[in-house]
Amino acid sequence: MEFITFEQKDQIGIITINRPKALNALNSQVLDELNETLDSIDLNTTRALILTGAGEKSFVAGADIGEMSTLTKAEGEAFGKKGNDVFRKLETLPIPVIAAVNGFALGGGCEISLSCDIRICSENAVFGQPEVGLGITPGFGGTQRLARTVGVGMAKQMIYTARNIKAPEALRIGLVNAVYPQEELMAQAEKLASTIAKNAPIAVRNCKKAINDGLQVDMDQAIVIEEKLFGDCFESEDQKYGMAFFLDKNKDKVKEPFQNK
Ligand code: CAA
Repeated sequence: MEFITFEQKDQIGIITINRPKALNALNSQVLDELNETLDSIDLNTTRALILTGAGEKSFVAGADIGEMSTLTKAEGEAFGKKGNDVFRKLETLPIPVIAAVNGFALGGGCEISLSCDIRICSENAVFGQPEVGLGITPGFGGTQRLARTVGVGMAKQMIYTARNIKAPEALRIGLVNAVYPQEELMAQAEKLASTIAKNAPIAVRNCKKAINDGLQVDMDQAIVIEEKLFGDCFESEDQKYGMAFFLDKNKDKVKEPFQNK
């Protein structure tokens, strides 16, 4: 792989988009490599994933403007589909994904962070959807996921004005959950991922599926989705162990790691 690195740290996977010459902009090759990397993750051992960008300046500065500049309508649509397919794979990955946004998250960079479950960022992070200033719409899910994350009014304002926002405003509007000094960002992302990884994996996955799938349907259907995924946890080794541990009144006992069974 030329532009993606993958590191396995115990039960946590870390994907780094590494194309510093273009501030980690997403061209077709980056998207292909990201797709391949997502396919290769061992979901039996990996319980949470972190996505970040190489360097201290940029997370992802968007889709590659050079590559897009000469596309026809049909090619533009196909490029949108290429990005959307990979981002949807990321969004529906069974395990939680944390975006550690370490700088510019513009256009496709903001959009890829929106495909992650949780966003945290460094103090120098900048978010925005500059596409209308380039003569295009957001094309990797921004018109859909930004509104679902920060609300329709704020999403429309960001997209129509193409104005960038800094980390404190991103925090205020709920685009990110927390802001950290650059040097602490990855440690905080790993701490968050480790906290998630300690919980029962089948339950965590079912929570992700219940929230994501439930948001696509009305409340009557959504609670049925929840009931099925709730029921699915029962009879698992981890459910039996987790509840038996609570019910055991021996104060000296030590909790064993969950087995993903
Ligand atoms: N595509 C291609 N190359 C990019 C890029 C992008 N999105 N963003 C940055 N680069 C390249 C620059 O061309 C430059 O390359 P050279 O050194 O070869 O000239 C290099 O990265 C460094 O960039 P700058 O010199 O511009 O760095 P800066 O610090 O002055 O500015 C920046 C940083 C504000 C992020 C600026 O680079 C910028 O505005 N980039 C474009 C951001 C953008 O518009 N993103 C949205 C793209 S459209 C999109 O994503 C569509 C979609 O929804 C799918």
